[in-house]
Amino acid sequence: MDSLLIRGGTRLRGEVQVSGSKNACLPIFAACLLTDQKCLIKNVPNLSDVNFMAQILRELGAEVSMVKDGEWEICAKKISHTAPYELVRKMRASICLLGPLSARMRRAEVSLPGGCVIGARPVDLHIKGMRALNCKTEIERGYLNVDARKIRGARVYLGGRFGSTVTGTANIMMAAVMAPGTTVIENAACEPEIADLAKMLSNMGAQIEGGGTHTITITGVPRLGGTSHTVIPDRIEAGTWITAALATKGDVTIKGAIRSHLGSFLDLLECAGCKFEYLKYDAIRVNASRLKMKPVEAVTLPYPGLPTDLQAQICALATQIDGISVITERIYPERFMHVPELSRMGANISREGPSAIICGKSRLSGAPVMASDLRASAALVIAALAAEGETKIRRIYHLDRGYDSMDKKLKSLGAKIERTPED
Ligand code: EPZ
Repeated sequence: MDSLLIRGGTRLRGEVQVSGSKNACLPIFAACLLTDQKCLIKNVPNLSDVNFMAQILRELGAEVSMVKDGEWEICAKKISHTAPYELVRKMRASICLLGPLSARMRRAEVSLPGGCVIGARPVDLHIKGMRALNCKTEIERGYLNVDARKIRGARVYLGGRFGSTVTGTANIMMAAVMAPGTTVIENAACEPEIADLAKMLSNMGAQIEGGGTHTITITGVPRLGGTSHTVIPDRIEAGTWITAALATKGDVTIKGAIRSHLGSFLDLLECAGCKFEYLKYDAIRVNASRLKMKPVEAVTLPYPGLPTDLQAQICALATQIDGISVITERIYPERFMHVPELSRMGANISREGPSAIICGKSRLSGAPVMASDLRASAALVIAALAAEGETKIRRIYHLDRGYDSMDKKLKSLGAKIERTPED
């Protein structure tokens, strides 16, 4: 297990290229199971979660190979319907296999994802959607078993008490594309990753309208063909670099940052005094060298609201802003693993129910800290970059799940950062 050694106090400067989106890529890999023809997926990030999904597809019988850096070829000629427990239990996103296996094999056995450090990760809406499509579902020995032999299109409402479900919307879309009849998903997730999946499915021959909106209409077709698809850039990685640039008073151009994918996040920061240069459709420059930000009041919401996946990073930034900031988490109310670690670095941050109250500006000092969850770990990196002295972040495999070459990218922006094997 590697660690990151970061010596803080350097302003980030230069250009950084955002990699492909993890949360688009994982359901897109799963969607390749819907056809026996070859799919070519481009702009794939080099992440342990992606490699893991590739391993699961191979275990299911698909031929999966990386033809060159960032380009994968996937051909699911003959596959089984049972996702291997030993692999699937380790990555929640493997729940995305439910839809394609049910559509292609008319059966699915997928291990139920456990909880994780950000909170309970229920799948009741996934099950509700599959049942609405006239599938039988059963939970047995930690597996979710689906009998989809009588699958047919239907209307289904996918809103839960925390809003819609991203992977649940992906699953019902993928289950419905070859189901006889018409499916209407109401209160579907609108994330750009869903729109990207819908685009790929359409190019495979699916009849889908409204991908990326709250209402998705799908007319089932007998079969899907192969396609070539380029994954959208990772908006959460882009937001992470923007936050790091602000926290270090740097001057950074983020290539691949699509303004429309980050609307609520950019608006929150502009209201706090940030000035962004929108260089073209997918590049944003932030020069914070002489910026004095105002404190933020933020609430995470389903897209197009403020992404929960940027909440921890905003907390880290808020420690460097004079005044009291309040960040409220409405998607995963327990998603505050970063709070005790930021406190250890000197942040004045406390948890009040679903909110973090941050009294800035704090002089952060480097300290040994432990990564815990993907985005909480990103928050620790941001704090370490702004801190005085050296921070050692252990168990950075959490970061490797969702950030492609984070240390190399930060080093290219001038950060004093080294990746070291765990002693
Ligand atoms: C996706 O997870 C992302 N992961 C998460 O990113 C992201 O935080 C989340 O969406 C919210 O935006 C991938 O896309 C692989 P949900 P997902 O189903 O689909 C509740 C990261 O850091 N819910 O949209 O699992 C749930 O408890 C990861 O990159 C139900 O109640 O999230 C949560 O409160 C972390 N019943 C809310 O809905 C269900 O059946 C949103 O969950 C499903 C979800």
